[in-house]
Amino acid sequence: MTREELKAAAVTMLDRAYCPYSHFAVGAALECADGTVFTGCNIENAAFSPTICAERTAVAKAVSEGHTDFVRIVVAGRCESFCVPCGVCRQVLREFAPDMEIICLNSKGEEQVFTLSELLPHSFGPEFLA
Ligand code: THU
Repeated sequence: MTREELKAAAVTMLDRAYCPYSHFAVGAALECADGTVFTGCNIENAAFSPTICAERTAVAKAVSEGHTDFVRIVVAGRCESFCVPCGVCRQVLREFAPDMEIICLNSKGEEQVFTLSELLPHSFGPEFLA
């Protein structure tokens, strides 16, 4: 999938977001080393804390299908600012791909690109427990 197609996949997921409380839709498209793409949206809950972010929805789909070799993720929002992953999502991505590419989109579809290690420096990971 091209970069533009991956971005489009994340934007498409904005319409799948279940966000009746925040009205803040997020879409994600996660690409694995073999090219497989897993998409996700945020899924909110009336009890609030069970809410899951778009990125972690995509990660759960990928890992449960046997994919952990993440290369890049697009995170799409409808806000003026670039939609960056929250701290929990950064940590969850870090478990599998400490230096993957994070492509953040704003409502205009413009992108700001980071590496995960830029967004989560000095991070804790599986090697600490080895
Ligand atoms: N949200 C995400 O889906 N990803 C993030 O990285 C930031 C926050 C969602 C969670 C919640 O449904 C809404 O955005 C407002 O916080």
